[in-house]
Amino acid sequence: MLRTTTRSLFKKQVILARPSLNARFYSTPIPDANETSTTGKFIDSTSKPYSVTTYARPNLVLTHGKGSYIYDLEDREYIDFTSGIAVTCLGHANDDVAKIINDQASKLLHCSNLYYNQPAGELAEKLVTTTKENGGMADASRVFLCNSGTEANEAALKFARKYGKSINPDKYEFITFENSFHGRTLGALSVTPNPKYQEPFSPLIPGVNVAKPNDIESVKAVISKDRTCAVIIEPIQGEGGVNPIDESFLVQLRQLCNDNDVLLIYDEIQCGLGRSGKLWAHSWLPKEAHPDIVTIAKALGNGFPIGATMITEKVEKALQVGDHGTTYGGNPLASAIGSFIVDTISNKAFLDSVQGKSEKFVKGLEAIAQKYPEDILQVKGKGLLLGLQFRPDFDIGKIVQKCRENGLLVITAGLNTVRLVPALNIPDKAIEKGLEILNNSISESK
Ligand SMILES: Cc1ncc(COP(=O)(O)O)c(C=O)c1O
Repeated sequence: MLRTTTRSLFKKQVILARPSLNARFYSTPIPDANETSTTGKFIDSTSKPYSVTTYARPNLVLTHGKGSYIYDLEDREYIDFTSGIAVTCLGHANDDVAKIINDQASKLLHCSNLYYNQPAGELAEKLVTTTKENGGMADASRVFLCNSGTEANEAALKFARKYGKSINPDKYEFITFENSFHGRTLGALSVTPNPKYQEPFSPLIPGVNVAKPNDIESVKAVISKDRTCAVIIEPIQGEGGVNPIDESFLVQLRQLCNDNDVLLIYDEIQCGLGRSGKLWAHSWLPKEAHPDIVTIAKALGNGFPIGATMITEKVEKALQVGDHGTTYGGNPLASAIGSFIVDTISNKAFLDSVQGKSEKFVKGLEAIAQKYPEDILQVKGKGLLLGLQFRPDFDIGKIVQKCRENGLLVITAGLNTVRLVPALNIPDKAIEKGLEILNNSISESK
């Protein structure tokens, strides 16, 4: 087996570090690179032997991107309907983000939480004020900054336990929901009731009860004023199948939480920050359904790792110095990017354009669904968090592969759903071309 040297790869990547003039869509499908290609050799000799075996990946090495287009080591171009799993909200290689990174990196990258820094303070203030201005969490008050979604949820769970225990030492249980996803660290995993993810790592944290989304009786059956400290829910489930939760259920859930002195945590890590067409998915809801804690990550860094946990003053009152912390959380670089993202996304014209793009997408997806009535059960989702749910025995892995071969990246979600989470500023022509590829790829997968 030939070994590609790091040097030759580096050379290749430098050549490709701009939208390629040669890159193109192929008029006939091109299979993933084989083991004799530059891609195959790199994966077999460098990536696979030295990386832990926790991911199943196709033979694809991505090198660079621009906006909603992304390029691989074979110089192929793809329309990106994944945006790195709902992360690169302003597209790849965004010029403003690149400038902020450059400017901040030449000033101060990191100073730890031993001291204050300006970008972190400004981001916390911006998240609170912008949330209120955009019809979100009416009592938003303070922010804990961290580095990822799972960490944002860990903070939320710890804060909720602290709140519960401030009332009574046994008030530490959580309620979570079927088909939810909250992350892979042990706390977040404990409230992610998917046996595939949980069983290899059991026992998990005790006191987690699982209810059914949109079924208030199932919550009533497990909630306890003495034992439950918090309920955690995604207002639109992402990984679990792109499932928007009913407004009436969330209003009832909020009331049930009030009645039992239980905190309500909204995990907006995937559905937040403009993805639903408003700043937060819960910005669509009346104040009567607003949460006590919101968790945020993904889009906040446009690809740079960051997370945040926003709380009300009621939760803050249960916290004291030393309760939680992180070395990197709130570092000046991530925070400076986060402020820019919040400013950009909360702009009304930007959010209106997301809703316009969503309408275009939904129209296209409905047309596709009508073509395959035996295979596609429904078009689901909100804003630019959308899904096509297929009948349970349809092999949607094949659709993902065919799309890739035809120059489009898509991902799956639970309930046999093909998930579409493009950049929020995806150009209309990329939407049209991408939907055309998706349609052809479904037909080729039958
Ligand atoms: C709703 C939700 N919560 C939490 C997470 C975990 O975030 P991270 O992968 O950044 O830890 C994800 C990731 O997909 C998510 O979609």
